Amino acid sequence: PAPGWAIEADVVVVGSGVAGLTVALRCAAAGARVTVVTKARLDDGSTRWAQGGIAAALGEGDTPEQHLDDTLVAGAGLCDERAVRTLVTEGPDAVRRLIATGARFDADDDTGEILLTREGGHHRRRIAHAGGDATGAEISRALVEAVRAAGIDTVENALVLDLLKDGAGRTAGVTLHVMGEGRRDGVGAVRAGAVVLATGGMGQIFSATTNPAVSTGDGVALALRAGAEVSDLEFVQFHPTVLWLGPEAEGQQPLVSEAVRGEGAHLVDADGVRFMRGQHELAELAPRDIVAKGIMRRMRERGAEHMYLDARHFGAEMWERRFPTILAACRTHGIDPVTEPIPVAPAAHYASGGVRTDLRGRTTVPGLYACGEVACTGVHGANRLASNSLLEGLVFAERIAEDITEGIAEGVTEGITEGIAAGAAERTEGPDERTERPGEGTGPSGPDATDTPDALGAPAGAPLLASEARYEIQHIMTHGAGVLRSAESLARAADRLDRVHDDAAAQLRRDGKTAEPGVETWEATNLHLVARVLVAAALRREETRGCHWREDRPERDDAVWRRHLLVILRADGA
Ligand code: SIN
Repeated sequence: PAPGWAIEADVVVVGSGVAGLTVALRCAAAGARVTVVTKARLDDGSTRWAQGGIAAALGEGDTPEQHLDDTLVAGAGLCDERAVRTLVTEGPDAVRRLIATGARFDADDDTGEILLTREGGHHRRRIAHAGGDATGAEISRALVEAVRAAGIDTVENALVLDLLKDGAGRTAGVTLHVMGEGRRDGVGAVRAGAVVLATGGMGQIFSATTNPAVSTGDGVALALRAGAEVSDLEFVQFHPTVLWLGPEAEGQQPLVSEAVRGEGAHLVDADGVRFMRGQHELAELAPRDIVAKGIMRRMRERGAEHMYLDARHFGAEMWERRFPTILAACRTHGIDPVTEPIPVAPAAHYASGGVRTDLRGRTTVPGLYACGEVACTGVHGANRLASNSLLEGLVFAERIAEDITEGIAEGVTEGITEGIAAGAAERTEGPDERTERPGEGTGPSGPDATDTPDALGAPAGAPLLASEARYEIQHIMTHGAGVLRSAESLARAADRLDRVHDDAAAQLRRDGKTAEPGVETWEATNLHLVARVLVAAALRREETRGCHWREDRPERDDAVWRRHLLVILRADGA
């Protein structure tokens, strides 16, 4: 739809988690005119829900090199080592700057030293936390306050629709659908030469997720429609320990942080057996994909719907001091972790892939940046290391702000444009990091190899879907592309997703109209686009790696699959 109003800025930041607000603050501090647009309220994104903390080599004896090693191991051969090195070396100072911005981390009363915990895949205590298990809420509070104090322009209740481009194909802003924001109501536009996508994840493509309702893949969908490259979408991380609320539980589910295991909780089956022992040297603190698989295996063997996390030995005082949020959530649902084990099962948690960027957050579309969960910087590979996500948002936000403000200061917007393609190409040149684009002839060799764009193509331009399609998509994805996948389940999911689209297209032909434009119908349409691409990628990756678990291809296959799958939506929508 044509915008009914427009505002001008140098930079529009879409999203208000740690990534978006950090970009906004740093750009504003450098004198740029910034507008932040966000789908709900400023503090409604995923950041607020982060429990465990933020990983950085801050502790005595720890080093960025050790953090790098743990991150690479978790990433299962698909991390970009340069991106990880950037993350771990710039991370500690970025956390200190976050503290200077106002975030208060838990610290030792006597020495003032930041308290650090452990989580899965970390060989050291390196996770800083706040309010015990409310780290994201504290970071969000500090950043929202700083953004307000800096007087940065914000538009809430604003769903981003599409990227605006100028005649040269360069970013010129975004269109938005805004609900109830006075003079900026309805469909409008923010015109800006730099657009930063910081829209978070896509957990809502599954029935049960730790993500809030706003995590509907809007940034990835926008980027696909804008022609940007998207990478690694098949790697959806399932958090191993999500409070199990019954087989029919839907929507956002309460997380039970890895930090609970970091402080010594045990995973047990109904007989009290610690089944992760013997599966990995770190047992319950193995990388997340290994623990999720261990739980799923045991559930299958036992015909159980969940396992248990037992931390009764913490005692009431420790539960109240260290994990007040989780304690309250469990008690709300009638479980008292002080006296009984917590029923847990894996649920969708984090998109390791996203809009592909270089080390300055630049996507393959000139002027379009991506930061945080929506981005694929290369730091997570096939499986993100716990608590690296807040850090990624922070570190790359600062890099993006620097890139944008340097471009503005030099008046060389064209220079930014050229750098994007160069930087993005650079990232894929490593000898063991082969990258596959649909249609470039780099697909797996053999008689079945298909390298046409359709082999991994996004679906043809879709009509707007009815809001109820959201639940159908979630059902399809949970059963076909969840923790356990196979060629058969994925092919079935692809067919059923096509049918969702075809039914809407048939209705359009028949009635001459599609679903009413609005936040819910756009969200359903975005979820569908992202789900379709994810399934295509998961079908194509014929191996098990990181958090992509193919039951029909149970082994990791480095000879063929140590590479990334890229998706680009063609102009004709294919
Ligand atoms: C958690 O607290 O377990 C979540 C940490 C993360 O997802 O990085």
